[in-house]
Amino acid sequence: MRRPSPLPEIAALLALTALFALANPSRAASEPFPLLPHLVRHPCVIPLSLSIQTHFPLQMTHGAILLARVVSPAPQRPPVTISPMDPLLAWRKEFPILANTIYMVSHSLGAMPRRAKERLAEYTDIWATRGVRAWHEGWWELPITTGDILARILGAGPGEIAMQPNVSIAQAIIHSCLEFPQSAQAAARDTLISETRSPAQGQRSVVREFPKTRNRIVTDALNFPTNHYLFHALEPLGAEVVTVPSRDGLTIALEDLLASIDERTRLVAVSHVLFRSSYLQDLAAIAARAHEVGALIAADLYQSAGTVPINLRELGLDFATGGSVKWLCGGPGAGYLYVRRDLWPTLEPKLTGWMAHEQPFAFEPGPQRYAPDAFRFLHGTPNIPGLYAARSGYEIIEEAGVPAIRAKSIRQTERLIELAREAGLAVNSPLAPAHRGGVVTLDVPDGQNVVDELSRREILVDYRPGSGIRVAPHFYTEDAELDATIAAIRELVPVRAL
Ligand SMILES: Cc1ncc(COP(=O)(O)O)c(C=O)c1O
Repeated sequence: MRRPSPLPEIAALLALTALFALANPSRAASEPFPLLPHLVRHPCVIPLSLSIQTHFPLQMTHGAILLARVVSPAPQRPPVTISPMDPLLAWRKEFPILANTIYMVSHSLGAMPRRAKERLAEYTDIWATRGVRAWHEGWWELPITTGDILARILGAGPGEIAMQPNVSIAQAIIHSCLEFPQSAQAAARDTLISETRSPAQGQRSVVREFPKTRNRIVTDALNFPTNHYLFHALEPLGAEVVTVPSRDGLTIALEDLLASIDERTRLVAVSHVLFRSSYLQDLAAIAARAHEVGALIAADLYQSAGTVPINLRELGLDFATGGSVKWLCGGPGAGYLYVRRDLWPTLEPKLTGWMAHEQPFAFEPGPQRYAPDAFRFLHGTPNIPGLYAARSGYEIIEEAGVPAIRAKSIRQTERLIELAREAGLAVNSPLAPAHRGGVVTLDVPDGQNVVDELSRREILVDYRPGSGIRVAPHFYTEDAELDATIAAIRELVPVRAL
């Protein structure tokens, strides 16, 4: 007997799938539509799904992703061969998640080093066996001794980096050192008040007292939002926020930024690498302009430290902040703050606490007497387990070497861009390596759903509205993983949408 045609049944199921996906985009992305397993068992389904994608590319994205989800098995990982051309791959075995995941998301959360687990066990052992004595046996100084490892990576001196819970707090500490009064009387007071000798460098440097009308914070439209929120929170205290717009939504023209910095500027506050597009800003030029007009500069290094070489002293930055979650593979709870040493005596953070006191164990009531060293930038009890965990990542990054990491990052991001272009995917990151950090951003429709499906296939990337899918190789990435990532994205992006 002749079997009835399956087409009406398949058409009905596809229509239901599409309706479901359109009505429930977030649910459609997170859980398979219950009818799909019936559908995909039918041999006609794959050509049908392709033809539907061709005719209704954008509308059918959710349904197409769901189909792809059921028909494509997660990739099998072949064993790694360490090429003599890429010795950094030897570090792969230190990162457990790499065994079964294509990890392209170190701009968001760097892979956990295996030894972080041992460090955390060390912390609990010390807590269990040494109890309160642990404070005298290393815990009290841990925010500075941990910062010393970072100082070696970032070109700062020993004792110059104070660990903080996160960037938001570190930036707020900087702001709390500054005043933003708008009084006109004091306009001409850009007086040279002292010349100091920096003990660490033996170099002469100049400390200026700023005129009282110097109340501007110059930043850019693509700075990370946490920084924007903090700048605007200073407006009731007299700060005027000057936000340099982006001409293209992805970069900040250096000339626009430099032109906005003048004698009214108290603080220039920018990110080294922009989180949306991975645009790499010219910090040396920005710092030079800030200092030319007597302003201070604070850089957020979160998206550069660990993947782009940095020398804080050579750059002449006054302040720098960052965290460990991303390229430094240090996990959460270990932000950091660098302050130029010769500024220390002139700065009295209002965001303070007993750890910043000159004699904390005298438990003096009354006003703060600031410690003479970087302890003056601390406040309350530090996040000790976070600092234990963070060390492992720093040690590996230091040993691997940021110049070698950067060379590999440039090579692999170039390759990603080439593969993306071959696949017809639009690139939303700078094409010139000198202007690009470690991420390649791909402008694809329905990015969040593509990212969710990639995650199911053990390919980890992320998505930011307004820029696209962020793909980041790090020093532990194999070249084959670049191809696999782009191939998977290409497969998930509807044909006509390209
Ligand atoms: C450039 C930049 N700054 C700051 C932050 C947020 O820092 P935190 O959560 O430590 O305050 C991020 C997080 O993604 C970032 O990319």
